[in-house]
Amino acid sequence: MKIIVGADQGGFELKAFIQMKLEEKGHKVKNMGLDETISIDYPDKAEEVCQALLEEKADLAILFCGTGIGICIAANKIQGIRAAHLSDEYSARMAKKHNDANVICLGGRTLGPELAWSIVEAFINAEFEGGRHLRRVDKIMALEGKN
Ligand code: RB5
Repeated sequence: MKIIVGADQGGFELKAFIQMKLEEKGHKVKNMGLDETISIDYPDKAEEVCQALLEEKADLAILFCGTGIGICIAANKIQGIRAAHLSDEYSARMAKKHNDANVICLGGRTLGPELAWSIVEAFINAEFEGGRHLRRVDKIMALEGKN
């Protein structure tokens, strides 16, 4: 898979760990920073990474901030994005199987690295089920034009 990763100062260490694990598994990873502790505003990183995901037709973007919450809220304001904030493996599977998320968001200050990796693996190894879930996902995306 082609996967883009990006983080603010609250998530860049977890990002580096997840990038290493993804590359070990053979995924092609584009790292859009941060790679050091400088203070940025997470909506800017969400916008930058999500635009790249859409323009480059990557398979997935993974965003990291302190909790994963702020960067997820920001990502979901961008047309074409379905971002899921994840903190357990069951939700990770469902985020792909039922919601067909194209962005997942993780908290660098709330998740240990091994739990975060098991969440990422659970998401990547699941498949969108389509059917009635496609109808619902289509309705989610239609909300972008309505509101
Ligand atoms: C930055 O300190 C922090 O607010 C951010 O990483 C994130 O947790 C926001 O939701």
